[in-house]
Amino acid sequence: MPSNICFIISETLFNINKLCYTFNMSLEISLLPNNKKHVLKNMLELYLYDICEFNDSKTPYELNNNGLCGYKYFENYCSELGRFPYVARMNDRLVGFALIRTINEKPPTFEVAEFFIMKKYRCQGVGGKVASGILSKHKGHWIIETSVKNTVAQNFWRGTIKMFSCVNCEETEIECNGKRKQWKFNN
Ligand SMILES: CC(C)(COP(=O)(O)OP(=O)(O)OC[C@H]1O[C@@H](n2cnc3c(N)ncnc32)[C@H](O)[C@@H]1OP(=O)(O)O)[C@@H](O)C(=O)NCCC(=O)NCCS
Repeated sequence: MPSNICFIISETLFNINKLCYTFNMSLEISLLPNNKKHVLKNMLELYLYDICEFNDSKTPYELNNNGLCGYKYFENYCSELGRFPYVARMNDRLVGFALIRTINEKPPTFEVAEFFIMKKYRCQGVGGKVASGILSKHKGHWIIETSVKNTVAQNFWRGTIKMFSCVNCEETEIECNGKRKQWKFNN
């Protein structure tokens, strides 16, 4: 685990006992408790708006009549075991989130389903720190994918995976409802 992360049992976030980790520079990553899932629902709208320009059939998000995209797996992150909705806060302000899902229990295999940092906080190393913190929490095989059109995300994941010294990293281009870059590695 990187030395700048300390694990704490905290009652500070949303007043419940949850495992959360805090970085120096007060970057805090925590699992969102069920009674705060509306926070995720709101942030997902910002994310979906952001990535809709890379629209392929895997992310066919359009605005509904309420002017919202609506993330189709939102309820899964509220109810299913093996789903990890993390939020990141800097100086107590929400700055992003990561949705992680378990694909396999044995061997443990995880996927970064969605990952988002607010525009204002981008290109400052925040995303890299959030990703490193989460990767260090879940040991096993990892799969990360992004649209080939999302070149920023590609640079981001390439750089982050390399920095995290993940082993057996493979980068491939796959066809899965549109062309996607995929990384597989162990940590
Ligand atoms: C992709 C995203 C998470 C990056 O977050 P971030 O906080 O800006 O990333 P960091 O500042 O930690 O950058 C880490 C590395 O990623 C790469 N990177 C990040 N932004 C980049 C950009 N705009 N152009 C080129 N490379 C970039 C760089 O290699 C960078 O390392 P460096 O600063 O040493 O050059 C953020 O841009 C985002 O939320 N985008 C919209 C949602 C999205 O596309 N999510 C990914 C879906 S898989």
